[in-house]
Amino acid sequence: MAVATTGLVDAAERLIRTRRATRAFLPDPVSEETMEAVFGLAGASPSNSNTQPWQVEVLSGGMRDNLAEALMTAHRDGRRTVDFPFTDDNFSSVHQRRRAAFGAALYGTLGIGREDHDLRAAYDAKSLDFYGAPHVALLYAADSGDPRLTADVGMYAQTLLLAMAAHGIASCPQALLSFYADTVRETLGVTGGKLLFGIAFGYADPAAAVNTVAVGREPLGETTRFHR
Ligand SMILES: Cc1cc2nc3c(=O)[nH]c(=O)nc-3n(C[C@H](O)[C@H](O)[C@H](O)COP(=O)(O)O)c2cc1C
Repeated sequence: MAVATTGLVDAAERLIRTRRATRAFLPDPVSEETMEAVFGLAGASPSNSNTQPWQVEVLSGGMRDNLAEALMTAHRDGRRTVDFPFTDDNFSSVHQRRRAAFGAALYGTLGIGREDHDLRAAYDAKSLDFYGAPHVALLYAADSGDPRLTADVGMYAQTLLLAMAAHGIASCPQALLSFYADTVRETLGVTGGKLLFGIAFGYADPAAAVNTVAVGREPLGETTRFHR
């Protein structure tokens, strides 16, 4: 049986396993050249029938600041609107358990206790400033919201995160941004598509304790069965 040798295994291991959600950034911007390289690479993602059904809006500078401001105002005013419904019912008990373990790791590192709901909410609200990242990308799925087309946007997102990681750019996907879908749409002047989530990105702040949060994964057998 032929065994292909690519020489990429070590690089892939390092790239995939060292990417992490980063929640504190330096203000230094990513150069335009690197930005084009990274987003160009992300566009190589696979999709159903090569439809490439993602629309990506990348914000920097004044536009980034305007959106952060608009999001924080919408949050203060309680103006939440979603294109994709999000409720606790979306999660089964096993998903809830994993979600709680993640929350304990994140808020534990921040010194915020399990019952400190106000402090947790305040931390989440602050993240509408993209954790201080100088850039944010908003990922839109097709107007139909069809799950298969939307899954393609997930494909794109992971390719983008890995392309960023390869270029030394840190990132944090933020579903929270999609809870203010109308605010994002109005601020950007976007008319089509459904907002799935945003990705804050830039260079990681190496001094921030929150960036040491490392969450594990379930053992392989919990999620994957091999049928022979
Ligand atoms: C679609 C998606 C949405 C996410 N939304 C948020 C978010 O709103 N806020 C946040 O701090 N992290 C968010 N994350 C980051 C996850 O919490 C993180 O990926 C997960 O805990 C695994 O950790 P790791 O990325 O460091 O491996 C999101 C991740 C994904 C894939």
